[in-house]
Amino acid sequence: MEAASAAGGASPADAFRHQLHGWQTRMERALSARLPDAALVPTQLHAAMRYAVLGGGKRIRPALMFATALTLGLAEDQVEGAACAVELVHAYSLVHDDLPGMDNDDLRRGRPTCHRAFDEATAILVGDALQPLAFELLARDASLPASSSVRLQLIGLLADASGSFGMAGGQAIDMAAQGQTLDLAGIEQMHARKTGALIRASVMMGAECAPALDARLKAGLANFAGAIGLAFQIQDDLLDVIGETAVLGKTAGADQALAKPTYPAVAGVAASRLAVSALHQRALEALEPFGERAEPLRLLSDWLLARRN
Ligand code: IPE
Ligand code: IPE
Ligand code: MG
Ligand code: MG
Ligand code: MG
Repeated sequence: MEAASAAGGASPADAFRHQLHGWQTRMERALSARLPDAALVPTQLHAAMRYAVLGGGKRIRPALMFATALTLGLAEDQVEGAACAVELVHAYSLVHDDLPGMDNDDLRRGRPTCHRAFDEATAILVGDALQPLAFELLARDASLPASSSVRLQLIGLLADASGSFGMAGGQAIDMAAQGQTLDLAGIEQMHARKTGALIRASVMMGAECAPALDARLKAGLANFAGAIGLAFQIQDDLLDVIGETAVLGKTAGADQALAKPTYPAVAGVAASRLAVSALHQRALEALEPFGERAEPLRLLSDWLLARRN
């Protein structure tokens, strides 16, 4: 037990869990305020957009952006609009990932997937509508104190991370690889795109909001984000093997059922755990130039390593 908690105070890990909970609450409110009211026409589409985004999710990408902001001396308010934009793209990617034509999943965040709760056409349209809403926020959200040139950079970063060289491209590699074998380098490339790209964007968009950030520190953040992004998807693959549906909030064993070439399928569970630890270490090393200031990012990385869903 850490000295602080033995003395009756909160340990850094406890304090971080409290902070993460605060960020999750903040995001629920922030996203709800930015999503169309379900009473507006087309009501079914708007209800489905709200269903897909609200009421669940760890909000890891916004947490990474908030932790990056704090590390760089910015307040959460200054990046809240950008955090919403990344989470909207992420939520849309989950809705499409679950469709029958992709992973064909029935359970997401402990509830029926969007196409199950509504229908397939609506789920496709939810993705079609959430993606432009994300970019609209970067262009116009009044709470973002960014200049036009910073907004343009943010739009470019999110576009790169979402498109065929980012998340969508990674998903294409994932679908093409189903039933095939990939070597570890191939899996890492797929993971870096389908999941790593949006995680990297969460950190680098936060960095973009800090004026005149030193190039060496920016490179440190990019290295941190690259390592954490890959670790995150390897752990997602691991949890699919070792986790339970009730804890995961999504169906355990789904990857094996679809013959997905995942990290544990190719390297085994033990080697996958080692890979996650090595990447975690690499991520922490990349933060060294920041010293104490990077504590929010360190604590978030530690939390990610221990997560069970
Ligand atoms: C799940 O992402 C899909 C991946 C990219 C691995 P998360 O684990 O962040 O899902 P939520 O948002 O918490 O539901
Ligand atoms: C999903 O990877 C990545 C994206 C949604 C871009 P997975 O297919 O492994 O995610 P889960 O396990 O369904 O959440
Ligand atoms: Mg998938
Ligand atoms: Mg999936
Ligand atoms: Mg998965």
